[in-house]
Formats: sequence, structure tokens, C-alpha cells
Amino acid sequence: MTKGNKRILGLFLAGLLIFLAACSSNEETTKTIGIAMPSKALERWEKDGDYMVEKFKELGYETDIQYAQDQVPTQVSQIENMITKGVDVIVIASIDGEALTDVVDKAKGQDIPVIAYDRLIMNAEGVDYYATFDNFGVGILQGSYIVDELDLDNQEGPFNIELFGGAPDDNNARFFYNGALSVLQPYIDAGVLNVKSGQTEFSRIAIQNWDGATAQARMDNLLSANYTEDQVDAVLAPNDAVAMGIVSSLRSVGYGTNERSMPVITGQDAETASVKSIIEGGQSMTVFKDTQKLADVTAKMVDQILMGEEVEVNDRETYDNNTKIVPTNLLIPIAVDSQNYQEILIDSGYLLESDIQ
Ligand code: BGC
Repeated sequence: MTKGNKRILGLFLAGLLIFLAACSSNEETTKTIGIAMPSKALERWEKDGDYMVEKFKELGYETDIQYAQDQVPTQVSQIENMITKGVDVIVIASIDGEALTDVVDKAKGQDIPVIAYDRLIMNAEGVDYYATFDNFGVGILQGSYIVDELDLDNQEGPFNIELFGGAPDDNNARFFYNGALSVLQPYIDAGVLNVKSGQTEFSRIAIQNWDGATAQARMDNLLSANYTEDQVDAVLAPNDAVAMGIVSSLRSVGYGTNERSMPVITGQDAETASVKSIIEGGQSMTVFKDTQKLADVTAKMVDQILMGEEVEVNDRETYDNNTKIVPTNLLIPIAVDSQNYQEILIDSGYLLESDIQ
């Protein structure tokens, strides 16, 4: 090889090295966020997922989003795949908060930070942060709504109430129930509220998978066993899916007519079908948790982690997952009924007027 040729080859190799280095540093700058969501059965999880993808895109991240049709093994293998792919952070809305210990610890072993989204992941040290709404506060809003609507502080009653809980494997469900009972229990103890079925234990009132049809079947049984003579005045429903099952059951035996008014029925999520029902006088209220805000807060936490900045949280006390207190960003839920849905849900742009017509 001549001296000139050697120089050209040298320059070519140097160029190639610079080119390869540039490619690999480009690869390094595009980070990927794994997002593991429970299912598309509920409108809210799709909204959560869509907002998060949008938000991460704005911040310059790629996403790998997976829904698990409420199947725990599917969710575990989706998270395992994310770990194998080497995503940079994983955000998880768990199906069963007790079933992810191994896979989350595996992520920790690979130095992949994990954020628990909406539902806390229990018994796993690898959970770095938690973003959620004040779950106990959701229950307080539901319980307080029943107290105000039945005017329990001024009426002697007794008023008949039945209680429903969320999925027993969802850690949030007990927070909702305990929050509601923190308000309702004194009235039950004083005999102003009467649970005619006697079913108050969480394990008896919990609805597997938050399934509306299961709630409807339980309400059918409660009505035929306890309310052939008497009227039910209130039903504590933990979310909109459960509430809609209860509304169907009540309608099928003549509630919601001139002869028999609908009881006070609570809910949660501001799902379109429930907002319509509230306007039509079926369900009474829902608890609005702005999924866009939750997605924003989560994206900010992820960004702070990846930028090596301090991660802002506003609660370092409440959420113990049995291995540690998980630093949390807690957002405030809002009670919505026929009086304020326009302002809270429509004027804010969360739902379109056309969605609820
Ligand atoms: C969420 C609720 C939702 C429920 C059922 C809970 O963990 O906090 O918003 O209604 O799961 O999906």
C-alpha cells in the first residue's frame, strides 16, 4: 500500500469510528419507558395509557405500552419482556399488587427503576416511587356524599344501606372502603344507617375484578333476600363499573320510577356511561380522578429519575409496601354529581359535551 493510500484508509477508518460513535450516542439518548397497564376493560386505563404515551413522547422518550386483559401471568410476562429488552424505566399499574414481587425485584437487579402507577405494588423492594390519587380520600368523598344526601346529621333514620367493595387483590380497594367507613361507621353504630343484609366484612362485599356483572348479581341477591318489603336508601359502590351493575339491578325491580326512587349510589372514575347515568338520575355521584394529571406527574418523575435530578414527591409516610415506605406523589380526587359535572368534567375539557349525549 502506498503512503497516500494508507492516509486515505486511515482517514476513512477515523471517519467510520466517529460515525459509529455518533450512532451509539444517539441510541443512548433515546430512552424507552415500559408501561404495563391492567386492561382495556375500563375506559380510564386506556385514557391513562394514551396520556402517558403522549407525555413521554413530548419529553423525547419512546414507549413500550402493554395491556394484560386483567390476567396476572400476562402482566408478569409483559414486564419480563420489558426487562429483557432493557427499557430504562418501567411504570406499572398492577392487576394484583401482591403478585409482582419477583418480577419487580428482577427489574431492580437490572437497575431498572420501577414506578407503581395508581395501585401500590406490595412486598417488592424494587418499587422506587408511587403516583396515585388519595385513595382513602376517595372513600371519604363517597361516604360524605351519602351522609349529606340523606342528611344523616339531621334525620333519625334508620336508612337502609348496602356496601360494596372493589377487587380483593387490588390494594386500593381497602383504602377506598376504609375511607368510606371512616365516615359511615359512626352512623351505623348509632343506628341511623342500617346494613340490612348484615354484610359489612370487606371479604364478603368485595367484587372480584371490579366486575359490573358480578356486582349486579350480588345486588339482585341482596334485594331479593332483604328488600321485598323495605326500600334500600343508599348503596356504597367503590367505582363506576360496580355502580352501573347496581343501577341495572335496581332498575330491574322498579327503582328509578315515580313509585320507587333510586337510592343514593356512589362511584368513581367519571366514566362516560356513569356521567350519563348521573345526568339521567341513575347513579348519584362519581369521584373524578384526572388521569391526565396522574400521567403528567408520572412522566415528570420518570424524567427526573433519568435526568439524575431529585424526584419531587409530596408523601413520604402513608404508603408502606411491607418492605419500605414508598415515596409517593398524591393527587386530590373530586366528587362530581349532577350539580357540578358541567364545570368539572366538560368545561375543563376532560369529556366532550358530545360524549355524554
Ligand atoms: C383504581 C380505580 C378503578 C379500579 C378498577 C382501582 O385501582 O384506582 O380508579 O376504578 O381500580 O379498575
